[in-house]
Amino acid sequence: MFTLTDLSKIKHSFSSLHLNIAKNICFWKSMTEKIETETKKARYEYLEDLPGIGPATAQKLKELGFHTVESLAMATVHELEPAGISEKKALAIINAARSSIGIAFIRADELHKMRQNVLRLTTGSKALDGLLGGGLETQTITEFYGEYGSGKSQICHQLCVNVQLPPERGGLNGAALYIDTENTFRTERIVQMAKHLNLDPEKIVKNIIYAEAYTSDHQMFLLENADEVIKENNVKLIIIDSLTAHFRSEYIGREMLASRQQKINKHMHKLIRLARAFNAVAVVTNQVMAKPDMFFGDAISPIGGHIVGHTSHTRVYVRKTAHGPIRIARLVSSPYLPEGEEIFKITENGIEDVSEDEKTKSSGR
Ligand SMILES: Nc1ncnc2c1ncn2[C@@H]1O[C@H](COP(=O)(O)OP(=O)(O)OP(=O)(O)O)[C@@H](O)[C@H]1O
Ligand SMILES: [Mg+2]
Repeated sequence: MFTLTDLSKIKHSFSSLHLNIAKNICFWKSMTEKIETETKKARYEYLEDLPGIGPATAQKLKELGFHTVESLAMATVHELEPAGISEKKALAIINAARSSIGIAFIRADELHKMRQNVLRLTTGSKALDGLLGGGLETQTITEFYGEYGSGKSQICHQLCVNVQLPPERGGLNGAALYIDTENTFRTERIVQMAKHLNLDPEKIVKNIIYAEAYTSDHQMFLLENADEVIKENNVKLIIIDSLTAHFRSEYIGREMLASRQQKINKHMHKLIRLARAFNAVAVVTNQVMAKPDMFFGDAISPIGGHIVGHTSHTRVYVRKTAHGPIRIARLVSSPYLPEGEEIFKITENGIEDVSEDEKTKSSGR
């Protein structure tokens, strides 16, 4: 039985609970209003439009590789310091850029809506697309790794063509940016692939913006200055083929490992920020190294170790087979898809599915 004091205590706690609920509702109401006004805030088109950026500061920022409001929205205070901007001012600029492109606190339902903005790009093979949950995603990095001749660059070539297709054909109606570190990009191959898809090869080639990177520093510089090119050309696919080759040949020995990893990390973060800001697909290729001391597990591992692994959202291991053009793709890691394997083939037409007939023949051999 409750005593009178008990009842009064219960009543009191109910009324304070009631008050708390009311307070919470008020808090969420004001947060919602804040979010709504944030998103209604001014949209700035050019750097000079942002409050606190005059022509001289804009020039310095451009020299640092920040040509667009989108790239500033993804910048860190530390990155703006070399432009002679104080920490406080840098923060204000970044915040203004963020509110302009609508990055702020968001509710999970809005996050859900943002996820719906994620688009998918076809590889040309239904099996490979299926392995990746319907194609390569925008706003994330997909890494293809494997030994020489496994088909990494061929996939990149095919994606450059496919990205130009309309969405109903698995494309993104956009252009491609190709950073080539090994001089293996071939327009002839693009022409072959474009013809196979009944596309005008001349138009397709025009929509691929190409840059050869001569050193790892040059490679980083190209990406750091890519934002304007991406925006102006409606680039929806950014490729770095290969991500690690220069780093691997320039940073030799244990004592250089830490600085190499730090640079790769910075490079990958720049890439992910560009992919997010422009809703683009980001693709990197990576070589493998043998681990002779491994007794268990996979004796082959991609270069770059944890750094590359943690920043690549989706990792695909590509292997050659004994059956000529047929390749095996293994989804090694993905934020939400199960591991799995699929086969595809590389022909003159590009990346294609293996027919049932070929499957039976190759398994019978
Ligand atoms: N025109 C073509 N027709 C058919 N197959 C082709 C054609 N061009 C290239 N290939 C196939 O693609 C392979 C080369 O693949 P790719 O250049 O993509 O390898 P990679 O994984 O990028 O290697 P690396 O690590 O050396 O850069 C060739 O060995 C061949 O099997
Ligand atoms: Mg290659």
